[in-house]
Amino acid sequence: MPSEPPTSTFKERVRAKAYPVHESGGIVWTYMGPPDTITPFRDFGTESLPAEHQLATKLGSTCNWVQTMEGNVDTAHISWLHMFGGADDIPDDGTDKPGYPSNAMTWKFWIHDRAPRLEVQDTWYGFRYAGLRTTPNEHTNVRITEYIFPYSTIIAAVPFNTRHLMVVPVDDHNCWRYTFNVAVDANPQGYGGGPLHSYSPFETPFTRQVGGITPREYVEDNTYLIDRENQRTETFSGIRDFVSQDLMVTESMGPIYDRSQERLGTIDKAIIKMRTLLIRSAKGLAADGTTPPALAGPDADFTTLRGADKILADGEDWHYLGTDDDPVVQEAEAFQRGEAFPKGEPAPQPAAGE
Ligand SMILES: [Fe+2]
Repeated sequence: MPSEPPTSTFKERVRAKAYPVHESGGIVWTYMGPPDTITPFRDFGTESLPAEHQLATKLGSTCNWVQTMEGNVDTAHISWLHMFGGADDIPDDGTDKPGYPSNAMTWKFWIHDRAPRLEVQDTWYGFRYAGLRTTPNEHTNVRITEYIFPYSTIIAAVPFNTRHLMVVPVDDHNCWRYTFNVAVDANPQGYGGGPLHSYSPFETPFTRQVGGITPREYVEDNTYLIDRENQRTETFSGIRDFVSQDLMVTESMGPIYDRSQERLGTIDKAIIKMRTLLIRSAKGLAADGTTPPALAGPDADFTTLRGADKILADGEDWHYLGTDDDPVVQEAEAFQRGEAFPKGEPAPQPAAGE
């Protein structure tokens, strides 16, 4: 341009395309749709994050983004893929009773009942579903996962979780998994640590506090560092890193698995719901511009969506768990506002990332 003749109007006729952006929670967000349908910034809880908790990470995966999402909305595989020798022998620490189990006990529940019953609840933003497992003491453990249309999930955690795991396509065969930090001092008893790490042989990304792009050590080219001796004696998968167990499964299916040959079972209820929503919405948008779910306008409050995990009392309905009506949520939010925290409820635990 500087070398164009000064009389040239070329510079007035050439435009670079630009999109509105908004920085929040360590992530630069953008809107790439038509300007006339732009919605207010969709706050997934990052707007109120204190600066010291603004740590975002992203992890690349070499498969279609929906394939990755399906792992996130599947609770059954944690009973298999992430299991390790000794999970069934974790001693009863007294928390296998109605209320909030220790993290160690949740591992035991996963291996104890490998056929959870699924209940799906339709919502304005997509759906949430409960995975119900019978515990060794014959109670019902519920894990509640949120699906926020189209690309976000909130995985279950004791007692609740607000951290979104977002999967954004790069192209049809590659995606990024984004997440951001959470309010780690939401409870005076501290955050995470403890039994999960004592009982799990896995390294988890939540023990690393480094933002930015998470390097991949376990990849297809090194067969995910699978260790057959480890597989015989320690872990179900033979892969030591927790998240890499998921990546191994979703990537080794091929970048886009041939779904036409697939047979889905009752355990796939949540995955069927997600696929139905995505396909129906894409067709509706293409056909006549039908508004997809989760674009409910300025009143849509995504900060009230939470995953949850609890052992139910007799007759207790799971639907209120993790919502604004849940006393544990109310107490944690009061603490964050600097108010008294009357009961010593368990802290939100790091979600293992289903
Ligand atoms: Fe997983």
